[in-house]
Amino acid sequence: KSLKKHNTFGIHVKASEFIKINSEKELIETLSVYKEKNIFILSGGSNMLLTKDLNALVLHIAIKGITTELQSNNSVLVSANAGENWHDFVQFCIDNNFGGLENLSLIPGYVGSAPIQNIGAYGVELKDSFVSCEALHIHTGEKKIFSKEDCNFGYRNSIFKNELKGEYIITKVTFRLTTKDHVLNTSYGAIENALKEKNTTNPTIKDVSEAVIAIRRSKLPDPNEIGNSGSFFKNPVISQENFFKLQKSHPDIPFYKVDEENIKVPAGWLIEQSGFKGKRWGDAGVHAKQALVLVNYDNASGQEILELSKKIQQTIKEKFDITLETEVNII
Ligand code: EPU
Repeated sequence: KSLKKHNTFGIHVKASEFIKINSEKELIETLSVYKEKNIFILSGGSNMLLTKDLNALVLHIAIKGITTELQSNNSVLVSANAGENWHDFVQFCIDNNFGGLENLSLIPGYVGSAPIQNIGAYGVELKDSFVSCEALHIHTGEKKIFSKEDCNFGYRNSIFKNELKGEYIITKVTFRLTTKDHVLNTSYGAIENALKEKNTTNPTIKDVSEAVIAIRRSKLPDPNEIGNSGSFFKNPVISQENFFKLQKSHPDIPFYKVDEENIKVPAGWLIEQSGFKGKRWGDAGVHAKQALVLVNYDNASGQEILELSKKIQQTIKEKFDITLETEVNII
């Protein structure tokens, strides 16, 4: 089976076997039957670059369903099953006036993968409203509940990308959201500007969501039109000492302070400075409006995208002595 339609990069590779999973029960049964198989979990396919055919049983997790539980303190616990589309879930929350996820509007992918990389955008991360998630062990099928502490969340990082990589299949995620007196995060410059432009003085969560959607549409390619996986690299964190050296030669470099010793610099800026923005090699390219996003114009192979990413990493290393880490999982 071709996975082209199952990964947002639109890479054509084949899987030896493919099963769509519609319920937790089906998942448990499938895991017990195919215990000995090499299993590969695929949900929205929005954060991976497939570089070769998969000699594996691909389980496409499509378990749907959302439940809510009102709490006494102006909050609500909202649980979504892993196969819910992330943006549809965020819209459900906004339609019900549940606050907390509005800045994470329009992120591609499914709910079940969101904790793995602690998705984040415009000053908010998943971990800010995450309560817990349920997961099944890929070999034993045993269920485990992970609290927020268990997940070890960091910048685009969690235990599911490290110690427990490939071990668990997340089936359900629970968030604590607000039902009134929402705390909006509009500190990100582009959100402030978008709200000002619309003369919104008392923004609602819907206003913030709409601002985020407009910003994303203006910069990020729609995977339905041009294959991509969002930011291809993480924004590198460098020591203050190295940053000051860099700032001397490049006074206009944007930056965010991480702590007393470390500074995060935007990889998109480094890539643009290196001349890659908007460039194209065959069907593999660097997006013209956001240099951190690599794109597949139509029929690029995963290898071609990977080679382009290596060329970028090498150039950034030579020019700035900074190592760019991939944010996307390379398979
Ligand atoms: N920049 C450039 N040239 C570019 C792109 C960016 O100079 O081609 C500069 C911008 O001018 C700005 C800075 O870099 O000063 C940051 O750019 P932007 O606000 O677009 O965000 P980013 O740091 O490139 C991160 C996340 C995005 C998230 C945005 C908004 C990572 C790896 N990426 O991108 O997340 O949407 O912030 O919060 O942290 C993703 O993870 O897939 C993703 C899209």
